Formats: sequence, structure tokens, C-alpha cells
Amino acid sequence: MQEKRPFPPSQLLIHLLAWLPLLWLLWAYWQNQLGFNPVRAMTLRTGKTALILLLLSLTCTPLNLIFGWKWVYRLRRPSGVYAFFYAALHFLTFVGLDYGFDLALVGDALRSNRFTLVGLASFLILLPLAATSTRRAMLWMGEKRWRWLHRLSYLAAALAVLHYALLVRQYYTQPIIFGAVLALLLGVRLVVRKSASSKDP
Ligand code: HEM
Repeated sequence: MQEKRPFPPSQLLIHLLAWLPLLWLLWAYWQNQLGFNPVRAMTLRTGKTALILLLLSLTCTPLNLIFGWKWVYRLRRPSGVYAFFYAALHFLTFVGLDYGFDLALVGDALRSNRFTLVGLASFLILLPLAATSTRRAMLWMGEKRWRWLHRLSYLAAALAVLHYALLVRQYYTQPIIFGAVLALLLGVRLVVRKSASSKDP
């Protein structure tokens, strides 16, 4: 009989941590603590959480490359899927709560604001990544094609950072920090991979 594997504590932690921002948001809404524009507060919080979780999922490979921590790979899928979950909530808040599901108005808003178009591009990339995040999808696609597709998560993150940078008008510190973190993660990945391949006989 197959031995039942216990749920690893690291995975339990990521599930608990990922639900916290939503519970906190609902609590703040319930307590009327979202300020004079609760819909905007919801949009900002879900967007920020999506970006943080996306960067968290991209941190797993560099951590394994530098420290050899294979266990971090267990966190990559859940954090990526939760990033998509918050991005979907973000999009639904925009379409449903902000624009009352009026698709003509949503279309106008998307066309007239560059930052929403860039956000949409990021979301559209995250969609197939979330849909193919299972092991079964990887087997169905073949590992090579699956890996190629999932490298697009860097592009989705870069577009999300650009979306953020385009929407702020004055305080660029946070988009710059997120952009620097993304550049560092990508840089580590490229440098370590390159030095490993140059050592191959
Ligand atoms: C689906 C298309 C998207 C639309 C229509 C959209 C729309 C918006 C809007 C309207 C805002 C608030 C702007 C403001 O009131 O100042 C915003 C903020 C933001 N969005 Fe999006 N977004 C989209 C996708 C995404 C995605 C995929 C991510 C991340 C993965 C993201 C991350 C953010 C961040 C980080 C902020 C700023 C949060 C803050 O200032 O605290 N967005 N977005």
C-alpha cells in the first residue's frame, strides 16, 4: 500500500499566508476600515498581493540555485496559483465593483489607460500558466514545452511591475523596489545557469 505523505509544514505555511491578505481585506471591509473609497482600496490590495506572490514564486529557483534548497520548489506552484487567484480578484474588482460589469465601459477604460492594458497583458499571461500548473498538464504538454511556457512568468511579473510604475504619479519607490527584486531574481538565475554550463566538460 502506498504510504500517505504528510502535508509539509512549508506548504501549510504558504496556504495560510496566502489566505491572510484576503481575510484581512474582508475584515477591514466589514469593519469599515477601507477608507472613503473601499473599491479602490480592494483593487490596490489585491493587486499588490498578486505581485508579491508572483515574485515569491520566482524566488524559488534562485534560492535552490544558490543554497541548494530543493524544498522551496514545493512553494513555487502554490504561490504562483495564489498570485493568479489575487490577480483574478483584482480584475473582478475592477470589472465588477468599479465598472458594474458594464463591458463597454470596461473596454473604454482599457483602451484609454495604458496601465490597464499592460495589467491585462500580465493577467492574460498568468491565465495559461495557472491552467497548466498541474503535474498532469506538464506530462500532457511535455516537459520542454511546459518549461518554456512557464518561463513567461518573468514576462508576466515584468508587465505587472510596469503596470504599477505607469499608474503611480509621484511615488515611484515601490515600483522601483519591485522592479529591482525582479531584476535580481532573473539576474541570479541567468548568472548561475551560465556559470554552471561553462563548467560542463
Ligand atoms: C487584468 C487586468 C488589470 C487591470 C484592469 C488592473 C487595474 C488596476 C487598477 C484600476 C489599479 C488601481 C489604480 C489606482 O486606483 O491608482 C491597479 C493597481 C495595481 N495593480 Fe492592477 N490591473 C490588472 C492586472 C494586474 C496584475 C496581473 C497585477 C499583478 C500581478 C496587478 C498589480 C497591481 C498593483 C501592484 C497595483 C498597485 C497597488 C498599490 O498601489 O498598492 N494588476 N490595477
